[in-house]
Amino acid sequence: MATPTRTHHCSELRAEHVDQTATLAGWVNSYRDHGGVIFIDLRDRKGITQIVFRPSQPETHALADRLRNEDVIQVKGTCIKRQEGMANPKLETGDIEIEAQTLVILNKSDTPPFTPDEAHKVGEETRLQYRFIDLRQKRMQKILKTRHRVTKIMRDYFDEHEFYEIETPFLCKSTPEGARDFLVPSRLQEGCFYALPQSPQLFKQILMVGGLERYMQIARCFRDEDPRADRQAEFTQLDVEMSFINQDDIIELIEGLLRRLWKDVLDITVPEIARISYAEAMTRFGSDRPDMRFGMELVDIGDLASQTDFKVFTGAIENGGSVQAICVPGGAKLSRKQTDALAVWVKDFGAGGLPIVKVDNGSLATGVAKFLGPIADQLIEKMGAQDGDLICFGVDSKIKTVHRVLGELRVKLAHDLDMIDPNDWKWIWVIDFPLVEWNEDAKRWDSLHHPFTAPHEEDVEKIASDPGAAKSLAYDIIVNGSEIGGGSIRIHQQEVQKQVFGLLGISPEEARSKFGFLLDALRFGAPPHGGIALGLDRLVMHLENTTNIRDVIAFPKTQNGADLMTQAPSPVSDDQLAELSLRPAVKIEA
Ligand code: AMO
Repeated sequence: MATPTRTHHCSELRAEHVDQTATLAGWVNSYRDHGGVIFIDLRDRKGITQIVFRPSQPETHALADRLRNEDVIQVKGTCIKRQEGMANPKLETGDIEIEAQTLVILNKSDTPPFTPDEAHKVGEETRLQYRFIDLRQKRMQKILKTRHRVTKIMRDYFDEHEFYEIETPFLCKSTPEGARDFLVPSRLQEGCFYALPQSPQLFKQILMVGGLERYMQIARCFRDEDPRADRQAEFTQLDVEMSFINQDDIIELIEGLLRRLWKDVLDITVPEIARISYAEAMTRFGSDRPDMRFGMELVDIGDLASQTDFKVFTGAIENGGSVQAICVPGGAKLSRKQTDALAVWVKDFGAGGLPIVKVDNGSLATGVAKFLGPIADQLIEKMGAQDGDLICFGVDSKIKTVHRVLGELRVKLAHDLDMIDPNDWKWIWVIDFPLVEWNEDAKRWDSLHHPFTAPHEEDVEKIASDPGAAKSLAYDIIVNGSEIGGGSIRIHQQEVQKQVFGLLGISPEEARSKFGFLLDALRFGAPPHGGIALGLDRLVMHLENTTNIRDVIAFPKTQNGADLMTQAPSPVSDDQLAELSLRPAVKIEA
């Protein structure tokens, strides 16, 4: 029998192993020479053990003298208790060390651009370029272990609930989910393209028509959109679909999963999760993914605003717009410079500016206070404002802009002013989304979720008569203001699906050419069905308390879609292009 590469991991040895022989293998984490005695911290994915090389073993000692950071080695030796006063309480194995008898250098490393312990000091680009070193740091290993645990818990949970895990294709016809497709040219069918799936939406619906009843998949999705802190072009969903169920069934199923995930990973109990309508979320929080960890709810002050002579307020109201406000507790301490910066920041969300006032000694001060004299007392009362608070106004001829500005502002101020308890968790279901919203630029109705979402049964006739008022059976699950999942009950009747396509401006010919297979499937015994998808990356971000999605993906892409390690995307040869009947890109001279 071959000798084992290792008998223990670097996290395992304790005082009770003293005098035992052990073989360990891993990376040189650090190297110290104390008057001829060489100390190595040996690291594997489970921990660190100190190895000591004494001059009394001259051959091994001479070899150890050549060791440097990140060399890969195997050491055989005896577990001994560290000398009095030398124990390291910060290390699980800090009571012992291995006195080395033999050392095998499995692979020398060049001097690394950074060591795993230094990863936090180097720029993210360097970390991503040398991801193989970056992944060796404890934090990355912990995150990827959590990610593994999460998918394992998901698979076990859905298996217990009699779901089948079924793979759906990567090379498919495009599924419209609102983003741009990644296209893959076909070699066998000249001039034709596959699209990478934005989600397995239509395949999972077809699986329901195929009688599978309960499907789940840890599915890779591709959307050609600009990456953000919580968005990647290539990301992973827990994708779920069920037949013969209603909205409550899906919500209960997913709450059960979230309860198990938070309990197992963080030992936190997820309470029964409240549900609020889209309309209420927008009215109170200005957002369909409200962060419920703090107040600062929006207050409509249109009635008071119209009693003033302040043109900014009265003008917006005369134009059919809205004036709303949030009260920022303790916000009066913000300097003029800070509030001016906020006024610039809100412009990104469509605001013309940011009127403010401070509450001081029971009255209004600074900002637009001079215009609000006649309503000062009523305003303070209506906002529930105290001395030292700041009142910020959202004013626009479109209520949508007012919601957006104040919705974003309350979140920013809560972070800036440290109002969020890091141990607080707030989950909320947002339900009853409108089926469609009017796209003013394109002059058409767009789906709020996707075109396969069912309207409330009593709203089916509104598709024709009053589309903007039709509510859908769509639901999103929000954690601390971040959307971690969304789904809906689907349309399972061909006629209703055709009507919705018509409303969205998809002609019968286009519907047939794009979704003929779906319309056919709906003709041949489609059961009532619905589902949801949770963003796996976002879930792990929450469980691992990071705001950067790249931290939870082993090989992520940068802001401009590059993989800095492999240098993808990269040019391909003209031969490869020719095989796909594609012409090389022509450089256009400026
Ligand atoms: P939706 O588009 O809402 O629904 O996506 C579901 C969840 O996936 C996550 N997510 C993302 N995560 C990282 N990067 C991205 N670019 C990204 N886009 C989405 C979010 C989101 O809540 N087919 C439907 C689901 C259904 O109806 O069943 C869908 O994909 O957490």
